[in-house]
Amino acid sequence: MRQRSLLPDNEVTFTSRSVKAVTFQGKLSRPIHRWYRLTPSFSPILAEDIARHFGLTEDDHVLDPFSGVGTVPLCMKYRRIGASSIEVNPYLHFVSAVKTRTYTDIEEIADCLGSFVREYRSFNRAPKDAADAQRLLREHEAFIPPIHKPLRWWSEGNLAQLACLRRLLLAYQAEPQHLDLLRMGVLGILVPVSNAKHNHVSLTFDDNPRPTVNIANVIAAKYREMTEDLRSVCAQTCSEVRVYHGNSKAASAVLHGGPKASAVITSPPYPNRFSYARETRPHLFFLNFVKNAEAVGQLETDSIGGTWGKATSVLAEGVAPLNRVVDSLLAPYTARFNGSGELMANYVTKYFNDMYSHAAEIDKVCRSKARLAYVIGNSKFYGHPLPSDEILAAIFAEFGFRLDGIDRMRKRQSKSGLYEAVVFLSR
Ligand SMILES: C[S@@+](CC[C@H](N)C(=O)[O-])C[C@H]1O[C@@H](n2cnc3c(N)ncnc32)[C@H](O)[C@@H]1O
Repeated sequence: MRQRSLLPDNEVTFTSRSVKAVTFQGKLSRPIHRWYRLTPSFSPILAEDIARHFGLTEDDHVLDPFSGVGTVPLCMKYRRIGASSIEVNPYLHFVSAVKTRTYTDIEEIADCLGSFVREYRSFNRAPKDAADAQRLLREHEAFIPPIHKPLRWWSEGNLAQLACLRRLLLAYQAEPQHLDLLRMGVLGILVPVSNAKHNHVSLTFDDNPRPTVNIANVIAAKYREMTEDLRSVCAQTCSEVRVYHGNSKAASAVLHGGPKASAVITSPPYPNRFSYARETRPHLFFLNFVKNAEAVGQLETDSIGGTWGKATSVLAEGVAPLNRVVDSLLAPYTARFNGSGELMANYVTKYFNDMYSHAAEIDKVCRSKARLAYVIGNSKFYGHPLPSDEILAAIFAEFGFRLDGIDRMRKRQSKSGLYEAVVFLSR
């Protein structure tokens, strides 16, 4: 017998939503969700509202093919709804996987995090002055993350302490799950102690670099927050969720025979030239999720909407529409901005070619009856709007998914004509 929804109150609305109910800001005060801030990630409130709107129960299985920092699987886990997610970026996959595990040995975890901080304090010190920072930096030089221009990212004093932290962490011995939590905490502080500004979707550098701080105090506070969060959720019953590392353009192979989804709740990259590989490069390099810049270029090329570095050269070679459907959907738009250079037309064509391949895979991994919610933003190229939500809906129609509605949730910049929408589909 089909169960009643575990989520009370079916009356939720997806128009005129607050920033907190759509964006990453909804996770800043939420246990576990707050461990790592990915600005273009969505609010747990949104994921929960969609689940409530769909009336999901324990009989359902939710798929998020663009996991990011794991907002959807984490929300489903504590609502006892089974879920799987897929993420192509190895660092974001790590974040999703670590956040969605079930931890029961909280006091052992607290001991491990505490011992690590004590060892770090005995090994590290905050530099007294600029000369001291340079001395420390030389001492830990071999452990500076192999990112381009590291001193743009961190002051000498902070970089020296981070290199020391990296040195300790790379050799540290602990239970694998505890080690992952140690790594998670360190990755969570890299941007907060950097010179990057946080208030833009894309990271930019502050003109006034952030001063040197005592990194041991920062990491100790992060581990306290993580332990507090684990204690606050540990008594709750939850479902097991699974996060896969892979490409959602090959979702059926990645999920290889896992449960079919009755619902998809997701947010793909928007066609706005935002690069997740670029944004996460300090993390990708800090704990060796990638070997070199070439691997980051490959990640960007594999990602939907990839446009940075090597991915741009791929676009410059020219991109033909995958088929007649993509061609006819895009022609009215690409013709308008083609005159300003072919690169953008190629970018948009590649983006929707990829979304078409993705939709073909969603067709395979969903149950015969399924409901989909795709959160997506529109774009503008050379002043010409591109209604990504409508184009996406038309692509899914090719695979038998009926459009139930497009709710425009919020404007992205007032008067720019940019908005974020949720596209509801079903079959
Ligand atoms: C808008 S974000 C998702 C954010 C997520 N809803 C959250 O709250 O964290 C889009 C994600 O899709 C990932 N991605 C891009 N192309 C992908 C692909 N081909 N397969 C799987 N993941 C991909 C990006 O790395 C990024 O993490």
